[in-house]
Formats: sequence, structure tokens, C-alpha cells
Amino acid sequence: MTDSIVINEVGPRDGLQSQKKHLDLDQRKSFVDALVRSGLKNIEIGSFVSPKAVPQMAGTGELLQSLSQVKGLTYSVLVPNQKGYELARMAEARTVALVVSATETMSQKNLRMSVEQSFAAAEGIIHEAKLDSITIQAYLSVAFFCPFEGSVSASLVRDQARQLAEFGADEIVIADTIGAADPAAVRDLMNGLVEEYGSERLACHFHDTRAMGLANVYAAIESGVRKFDSSVGGLGGCPFAPGAKGNVATEDVVMMCHQMGFETGVDISILLKAVELISSLTESQQGGRAHYWLSNNVA
Ligand code: COA
Ligand code: ZN
Repeated sequence: MTDSIVINEVGPRDGLQSQKKHLDLDQRKSFVDALVRSGLKNIEIGSFVSPKAVPQMAGTGELLQSLSQVKGLTYSVLVPNQKGYELARMAEARTVALVVSATETMSQKNLRMSVEQSFAAAEGIIHEAKLDSITIQAYLSVAFFCPFEGSVSASLVRDQARQLAEFGADEIVIADTIGAADPAAVRDLMNGLVEEYGSERLACHFHDTRAMGLANVYAAIESGVRKFDSSVGGLGGCPFAPGAKGNVATEDVVMMCHQMGFETGVDISILLKAVELISSLTESQQGGRAHYWLSNNVA
């Protein structure tokens, strides 16, 4: 088993998409640059979605092109549909986070497609991505609990993950979009998925709505998962999923991983500077659960 954990920082997308304060492109770029300085190697920098639906993410193509493409750094962008994929390709994205939802209502609310339509679209996009040499991270949202339909069955999620794997997704990301998972549910689902696909092809995305974000990360680590989404300062939330609070905070995940003996490549004291920056840019104090401790003991 590897002794490192990959952190995929989603603050510039999941974090900023729901902020009242809309950042301009220079501010978004300065945020991404601050995250890179901390040692993060995987960053979701924005999304190609309707600017009418999510004005905070307008200009993601320009942002992507303004970032220097350094070897070993992966900047991903989220897309909900074919149009988003085409815009991402035009902006020369190399890694695309493609979203589908486990439940019908969430799919309609977030993507305006049925589950069947969105899976058909995903199959086409993944096929195109192979030809375009673009890496696809397929996100299965509301994989534990849906704000509209309640509990989501693990067997449904396993079937949907299998479909995404068969389409050829490079990575399957199990997303607890509103933060309603618990460690037992995570263990039950992820044990089976890790056995089926191996840890290389899986990642988890947790929100901290019920204070179980870190417990869920721990449960997934125990199941063999080695890649996690998180958001510096615990920024985040989905404007289309009522009740979604911020992502599990990157500084909390990094601290726990380091204390458990895993490497992440992230320097927490520099990461805290990115928290300071985003607090000042969003004009609201951000910070994970360990923020006070870390600020006084690490920085
Ligand atoms: N990127 C940019 N614009 C997009 C787009 C995309 N991926 N998908 C659709 N649009 C545009 C359409 O061109 C159209 O623009 P217009 O009004 O100027 O003609 C407008 O969005 C609405 O299109 P419509 O055909 O009515 O809807 P749709 O079904 O194609 O798209 C969504 C609907 C869901 C894609 C769109 O509402 C959206 O982007 N929502 C945000 C989803 C999101 O970010 N969720 C959180 C992250 S998971
Ligand atoms: Zn999320």
C-alpha cells in the first residue's frame, strides 16, 4: 500500500461557485497560485457551466490559459455536458471532471438531464476524450444521500460506477455532495469499489456539513482510497443542492494524513497563507476545524 495521499484541491471551483462575493479572474488566479505554492499538485480551477447559472465561474477558459502549465501540476475543470466539454477542449484543458448524478431529481436540478440522458452524454464525452487525450475524472454526485430523494442505495452506486468504468473513465470520484455520508456507509461502499477498481482509479469527495468530513476521509483511507478532494479553508457548497456546506478542509485532511504517516507534498504553513488570502478575497473568514490549532502551532 502506498504511503502517500493525493489531495485534489477544489476550492477554486466548488469553493468559489457558491460565494456571495464573485472574484475576478486576477483574484481567482492569485488564489490558484497561492495553492500551488503550498505544494498542491492537483487543482480544480473552475467549471465550464452556464455563466447565467453560475456567474462565479465565468471566464474559466481564460483563467486556465493564464496559468503556466508546469510538468507535474494538474489543473482540472468541471463540465456538466457536451457543451462544457467542448469549451474545455477549446481552452486546452488536459483533465476534465465530468459530473453525473446518482438520482433522477438531482440530475434534473443540476444538469437538466435525466440520469439516462446524462449517462449517454457521459459515454460520448468519455469516448471523445480518449481521442483528444484528455483525462476524465467521472464524478458521481449525491452518491450517499440526495437532498431531494434521500438515501441512495449502495447497489445503485456500484452499478453506476461500473457503467462509468466501462465507458472508460480514467478515474471515478464518489461524491457526497451535501455532506450526509457516514463512516460506515463510506466503508461499505468503498471497500467493494477499491476491490473492483483498485485505489489508482478512485477518489472521494466529501463535504463537512455534519462534522463527519474527516471521519469519512479516514474511513475511505481504511478502505484503501488514496485520493481526496478538499477545499482550503473548508470553502464550498453546491448552489443546486440545498443543505450543502463547505468541502472538508484541505488543512484538516493534510494534517490528519501527515499525523497518520502519509505524505501529501503539502506544506501546511504555506497552505495557511492561501486560507488568509481567500478569506480576504471573499471578505469572510474561512478556515477548517483545525484552523485555530494550526495557526498557533504550525505557522
Ligand atoms: N457552459 C456554458 N454555457 C452553457 C453550458 C455549458 N456547459 N451548457 C449550457 N449552457 C448555456 C446554453 O448555451 C444556454 O445559453 P443561452 O441562454 O445564452 O442560450 C444556457 O446555458 C441555458 O441552456 P439550456 O439549453 O436552457 O440549458 P442546458 O440544459 O443546456 O444547460 C445547465 C443547463 C445545467 C448545463 C446549466 O444550467 C448549467 O451550467 N448549470 C450549472 C451546473 C453547475 O455548475 N452545477 C454545480 C457544479 S456540479
Ligand atoms: Zn462538492
